[in-house]
Amino acid sequence: MKGVILAGGLGTRLRPLTKVINKSILPVYNKPLIYYPILTLRETGIKDILIISGPEHAGQFLDLLASGKELGVNLSYDIQEEPKGIAHGLAVAEDFADNGRVALILGDNIFEDSLVKAVQDFEKQEKGAKIIIKQMPNPERFGVVKLRGNKIVDIIEKPKRPPSNWMVTGFYLYDSRVFDMIRKLKPSGRGEYEITDLNNLYLKEGTLTYQKIKGRWIDAGTFDSLLEANNFVAKKFNHEIFSKNQRKKYFPKNKKRGRKSFYLAL
Ligand code: DAU
Repeated sequence: MKGVILAGGLGTRLRPLTKVINKSILPVYNKPLIYYPILTLRETGIKDILIISGPEHAGQFLDLLASGKELGVNLSYDIQEEPKGIAHGLAVAEDFADNGRVALILGDNIFEDSLVKAVQDFEKQEKGAKIIIKQMPNPERFGVVKLRGNKIVDIIEKPKRPPSNWMVTGFYLYDSRVFDMIRKLKPSGRGEYEITDLNNLYLKEGTLTYQKIKGRWIDAGTFDSLLEANNFVAKKFNHEIFSKNQRKKYFPKNKKRGRKSFYLAL
């Protein structure tokens, strides 16, 4: 399976930080933000990755990441001419996908959990799509799932009154029909080709599956969530490099050592 990272849009919520720098290149502790989605994909075994950005900042990704060799991945680059929605951005990847399945991850999403199982399960799934959902206290900022028992019956984008506190994270798995599905979409009220509408097409077909995650998940698209991401990674990173005694001294409340993760990469 190939991977796609969407890093388009102008990051207006982070101005002036994003005036000349793409949001996905902003620092998150010791690495640029985009390293995290790259390393999340790499951990699942996906190494052929297309980075899609807007024309304004595209050169920055090539300057930073080049072939991807340093990170152990093979990178390609393409442009979404206008930020007309996440599904619209994914459509750019049609030739790259080459009639195969794709994993899509948003360039500003940081996952603590490994997504290896989700990818492995999806590989066994005959057709359809898979989303990753997480309980959040403020789901109205995101796509939110409506559940009946264990079954998703609807997904609503930024609902005023969320039907649950399970939101849809920015990691999605699609079968090779995804580009035909995107062609069926119409722009939403805010003029975007919504990823939520795409997921609802698979849901109606009965082929949308999901996995729940418990670990931290951060969409670093606002000042507060970017700061939260920095603090989270700093703690995780230091927790992994310090010895047991140092951890006891500096992180007394957080004694358990987590899985060795990509926070130490590079
Ligand atoms: O982060 C998860 C959420 O991402 C989901 O729960 C929502 O269902 C989904 O719509 C999306 O919501 P956001 O409000 O976070 O989307 P945003 O417009 O901020 O776009 C997320 C990333 O996708 C952003 O970092 C840049 C990229 N993007 C976005 C658009 C609209 C593109 O590359 N092209 C685009 O046209």
